[in-house]
Amino acid sequence: MSIKDKTLEFLEKNRGRYISGAELAKELDVSRNAIWKSIKSLQSEGYNISAVTNKGYSLSEDTDILSAQSVSKYIKSSNDFKIKVYKTIGSTNDKVKELALDGKEEGYIVISEEQTKGKGRFGRKFHSPKNTGIYMSILLRPRLMAQDSYLITTSAAVAVAEAIESISNKEAKIKWVNDIYLDDKKVSGILTEAALDFESGLIQYVVLGIGVNLKSPNEGFHEDIKNIATSVFNEEDNLPKDIRSLFIAEIIENFFSYYNSIDQKRFIDEYKRRSILINREVNIESNKGSVKAKVLEIDDLCRLRVQLEDGSIKELSSGEVSVRMKE
Ligand code: BTN
Repeated sequence: MSIKDKTLEFLEKNRGRYISGAELAKELDVSRNAIWKSIKSLQSEGYNISAVTNKGYSLSEDTDILSAQSVSKYIKSSNDFKIKVYKTIGSTNDKVKELALDGKEEGYIVISEEQTKGKGRFGRKFHSPKNTGIYMSILLRPRLMAQDSYLITTSAAVAVAEAIESISNKEAKIKWVNDIYLDDKKVSGILTEAALDFESGLIQYVVLGIGVNLKSPNEGFHEDIKNIATSVFNEEDNLPKDIRSLFIAEIIENFFSYYNSIDQKRFIDEYKRRSILINREVNIESNKGSVKAKVLEIDDLCRLRVQLEDGSIKELSSGEVSVRMKE
C-alpha cells in the first residue's frame, strides 16, 4: 500500500479526530514530509482534510468520497478483500470479468461512484447515476457445479435484503430470482455472470454484480423505471455522509458469511420467507411468449413452483424466464 493510501486509511478510521503530523509519521513509519505530501495529494483529490497548527490533520466527517479505505474500515471479518474504487466506469461487472480472465483470485471487489453502461438481466440497462447508488461487483471462484450456481444469486439476494433491513429498518422482500423490493417497488438488482468449464462441469469464475438505489436521483428516476423503482432512503432521512461505504461493507460481510459455508445453504429459509411472489398472479415471460400463472411456492432448489391457467404445475429455473408481477 502506498504512503498516501496508508494515510487515508488512518484518517478514515479516525474521521473527525485530529492527529499531528509527527504522530501520523510515527504510526506509519515514514517521514513527516512524506505525510505532508500525501495530505496535499489527498486534498487535491477533493478530500476535506483540515490542517491546524498544534493540532494536526483531520478528515472531515462530511467526506462523501468512496474509497477502498472508507469501505474497509467497516469490515470486521478477516477475509482478504482487494477493493478497487472508480469514479466512473462502464460496468463494474465488465471490469471484474477482465480481472477474472487475467487470472486474478477470488475476493477482488470493484466499486464505482457511477456506471455509464450498467447492465441488468436479460440485456436490460441498469441506470447508475452518480452519488445515489451502490454499484459493485465481486469476483468469486466457487467450487460448485454449474447447476448449483443459483446458490450464489440467492445467497446474495438474502445478503442485500438483510443489509437494507438492518441499516434502514425497512422490510426488504425478494422478487424471484434476485430483485430486492421495498413496498412493492424495486430497490436493488443482482446480475450474476459465470464462466463454466465444460469438461468438469465446474464453475470457473462468477462475477456477482449488485446495484442498490440508496437515494433517489435529484432529477428523479429515469423514465424507463420511474413507476417501478424506489430507493432505500428519502431526502428527509438524516444519514451519515459515508452511508454508501457502510452499506457496501454490510453487503460484503453478509454475503461472505453465507458464501464461506455455501454448501450448508443457511440462507434458503430466509430466501423463501422474504419472497414477495408467493400466492400472487404473475406473467411468465420467455422467448415463447407470455403466460399467466399463480405462484405456489419456492422449492429447496430455489425454483419457482407455479400453476398455469390450465391447472398444470411447473417448476421454473432462474435463467429461463422472467416474471412480472400483476398490479
Ligand atoms: C437487474 O436488475 O436486472 C440486475 C442489475 C445489476 C446491476 C449491477 S450494478 C453493478 C453491476 N454492474 C453492472 O453492470 N450490473 C451490476
